[in-house]
Amino acid sequence: MSVKTRAAVAFGLNEPMQIVELDLADPAPGQVMLRMLASGLCHSDLHAMDGKLAQRFPFVPGHEGVGEIIALGQGVTDFAIGEHVIPYLIPECGKCTFCTSGRTNLCVEYRARRNSARSPFSLDGETIAAFMELGTFAEKTVVWADCLVRIPKNAPADHTCCIACGVTTGLGSALIRAKVSPGSSVAVFGAGGVGLSTIEGARLAGAARIIAIDTNPAKEVIARQSGATDFIDPRDIHNIVQHIMEMTGLGVDYAFDCVGHPALARQTLEMTNAAWGVAMCVGVVAEGVEVSVLPTNLYAGRTWTGSLMGGAKRADVRRFVDMYLAGDYSLDHVVSHRLTLDEINRAIEMMKTGESVRSVIVYEG
Ligand SMILES: NC(=O)c1ccc[n+]([C@@H]2O[C@H](COP(=O)([O-])OP(=O)(O)OC[C@H]3O[C@@H](n4cnc5c(N)ncnc54)[C@H](O)[C@@H]3O)[C@@H](O)[C@H]2O)c1
Ligand SMILES: [Zn+2]
Ligand SMILES: [Zn+2]
Repeated sequence: MSVKTRAAVAFGLNEPMQIVELDLADPAPGQVMLRMLASGLCHSDLHAMDGKLAQRFPFVPGHEGVGEIIALGQGVTDFAIGEHVIPYLIPECGKCTFCTSGRTNLCVEYRARRNSARSPFSLDGETIAAFMELGTFAEKTVVWADCLVRIPKNAPADHTCCIACGVTTGLGSALIRAKVSPGSSVAVFGAGGVGLSTIEGARLAGAARIIAIDTNPAKEVIARQSGATDFIDPRDIHNIVQHIMEMTGLGVDYAFDCVGHPALARQTLEMTNAAWGVAMCVGVVAEGVEVSVLPTNLYAGRTWTGSLMGGAKRADVRRFVDMYLAGDYSLDHVVSHRLTLDEINRAIEMMKTGESVRSVIVYEG
């Protein structure tokens, strides 16, 4: 017996979302039903809506959520009704080579589920896809239990929802993937939800100099609150690579592209120290678009790498929640707007214009 849920649905490329009542299937074995408490808007939702990421339409966007478990599918014994959880977009089957490697969690189920046509949402018998198998811009959704991260009930959902993607990706990129070292220098393109947390991660790691680079000058104050020691609007600079070299002498130790642009990906590499610099692609470059490099920029020893969800496992997501609750970092300056589900298109507009830092949809109880 299915239940109904209100949800934001993207019906077509670049179209505003519509709030629609959908049918929601009962949780299958291994799944749970969630009543969403809050969900942040990440730029990847936009990329899916504007075709930069491959995505079936129509679909329910949203992958940065916190919810309460309201129903358990058969065989789910690790979780109980009433618990608060982050549904994390990378599952953890616990059996595949990735899960058991101890080095990463790129669980094979991540791609397998992304390629499957299954979704709990439907409208008049037609399937409506769930972005990243989560679809958190719905009052209720159904997700796999092996992607859940239990969080304390007193954790403020309108802040901790951001840890489901942006914060984990940023902190993880700095702390897990790059392993930023104390006293080092760091450059970060893009002071958005992901970039600010990358800056925060570099600060927590003890970096001495953290240079935020953003085309929106309003981000300077916020970037500095996250730990940036310098801020550059690249439109004021003739050659950003040369400028960073002049600022730092030999280039930064670590550079992150948290925007997602081929030119920036290349610049991050070129602005790092030639011998030990680490350049990381974090922002999503449109599917099929290539990024180029001069091999001479790699010979001396630079590392050019990337980050999917900061390399974080479910345990890391929980660790980042605990660090937030312990006051190791703040999200007060990051969550700039709290909106209702009906205001979702306003959140999209504000992300496009740069008026918001992070918008969060807060669901009524
Ligand atoms: N790798 C991953 O696992 C992962 C996870 C989450 C998000 N992402 C991607 O990370 C990127 C950032 O996401 P977000 O949610 O932080 O976005 P956001 O919209 O919150 O922030 C993007 C920031 O980049 C700035 N910007 C835009 N163009 C710029 C340029 N040319 N130079 C410098 N700054 C520029 C904007 O002003 C804004 O402050 C997106 O591409 C998103 O899809 C990747
Ligand atoms: Zn995201
Ligand atoms: Zn696995």
